[in-house]
Amino acid sequence: MKKVLFVCLGNICRSPMAEAVFRKMVEDENLSDKIFIDSAATSSWEHGNPIHSGTQTKLKEQKIAFDLHKGSQKISSEDFYEFDKIIAMDESNLENLRKMAPEGTRQKIAMLLEQGVPDPWFTGDFQETYQLVKMGCQRLLDEIV
Ligand code: 4NP
Repeated sequence: MKKVLFVCLGNICRSPMAEAVFRKMVEDENLSDKIFIDSAATSSWEHGNPIHSGTQTKLKEQKIAFDLHKGSQKISSEDFYEFDKIIAMDESNLENLRKMAPEGTRQKIAMLLEQGVPDPWFTGDFQETYQLVKMGCQRLLDEIV
């Protein structure tokens, strides 16, 4: 079982989108029993809050389920041991994760895409987020499989 954790700043826009998109791809490839997926935040700012309406709208448009997200959660130190891949949405997430990572877990941290996924909380462009997340998730799945 490979465990993948998608991480962004708030865990309400980008990482829950990546979690849902990646889970759908994994289900479509009949790999659900081999790959476990979750998402988390680097901050507690949105703790317990649901997925942003902009992300919900995109996922509904694409008929992608997102009901497993139970509110924003900050990444814990256990998560760094528990997960095999910790996937950051942008450079700032990557930097924060590297600072938070317990000894010996930093090699698990990587970017979803080299260019990063701009934060739609600031850009308002959830279509751009969706396209980049989809591209990154496809590449990640190809890499794992
Ligand atoms: P996310 O977007 O990191 O993609 O979930 C954000 C959500 C909330 C905030 C910033 C970014 N915030 O400042 O509360």
